[in-house]
Amino acid sequence: MERFYFGSNFKMHKTLAEVRAFVQFLNELAGAHPDVQLFILPPFTALGALDGSRRPGNVWVGAQNMHWAAEGAYTGEISALMLRDLGADLVMLGHAERRHKFGETDSEIQRKVESAAEIGLRVLLCVGETASQRQSGVTGEILALQLKIALQGFSPQPDRLLVAYEPVWAIGKGGREAAPEEIALSVAQIRAVLAAQWGEAAGAVPVLYGGSVTKDNCGAYVRETGVDGLFVGRAAWTQQGFTAVLEAALDARPSQGNRIQSKVSRP
Ligand code: PGA
Repeated sequence: MERFYFGSNFKMHKTLAEVRAFVQFLNELAGAHPDVQLFILPPFTALGALDGSRRPGNVWVGAQNMHWAAEGAYTGEISALMLRDLGADLVMLGHAERRHKFGETDSEIQRKVESAAEIGLRVLLCVGETASQRQSGVTGEILALQLKIALQGFSPQPDRLLVAYEPVWAIGKGGREAAPEEIALSVAQIRAVLAAQWGEAAGAVPVLYGGSVTKDNCGAYVRETGVDGLFVGRAAWTQQGFTAVLEAALDARPSQGNRIQSKVSRP
């Protein structure tokens, strides 16, 4: 079965003790789901205390942002080198809240992608249009622009890049739940841009969806949009919520029924 990606961005939430407990919970969950790549992105403050060597391979812990320089006079910033030092498995770049609340530009994101790649950090690149861009009918153009600029000069190495489609209008409290057809179209547009750039190699890049994912809508997202995984905020911030969304998503996977049957029929 294809690998399924399932993770949560904790944003500016959770103490060190809470993140430690969450990682412990993921370590236990990972054994039951060897075909699922689980990941969380806690705040920087919690990354330093995690011991990478104790995590199973299908649990990643990563950062929500970084600076593009390896070091320098950038007060308050953190570099790819520092994240690698802490044992981070990946870094998310270009999240909508970085772009729209902190004014991050596509070319800054490109510099960050380049820097992460140089250091050998896996990148989760977020792209997505605003509500007014969607209304103007330029979603495809915006996704292409964000991807082409951010990935300029990046050559895909297997397992080094993931892309998350995160429409700005769907994210967070007050976000509008996306229809599966809307996600499917954007995901196809993202794959087309990657394929135009890298040909067949682009097929190895997982494309995830994020934005108001819940245990109730995730089944349709998994079945009808062609995504390789889900990237969840609020609904997955508790262990119970994380498990509920994950299980509902896995139940919706096409081959899941067979898998459950074969398990049940085993003596
Ligand atoms: P949400 O957040 O699931 O709470 O909408 C998603 C995100 O920001 O990645």
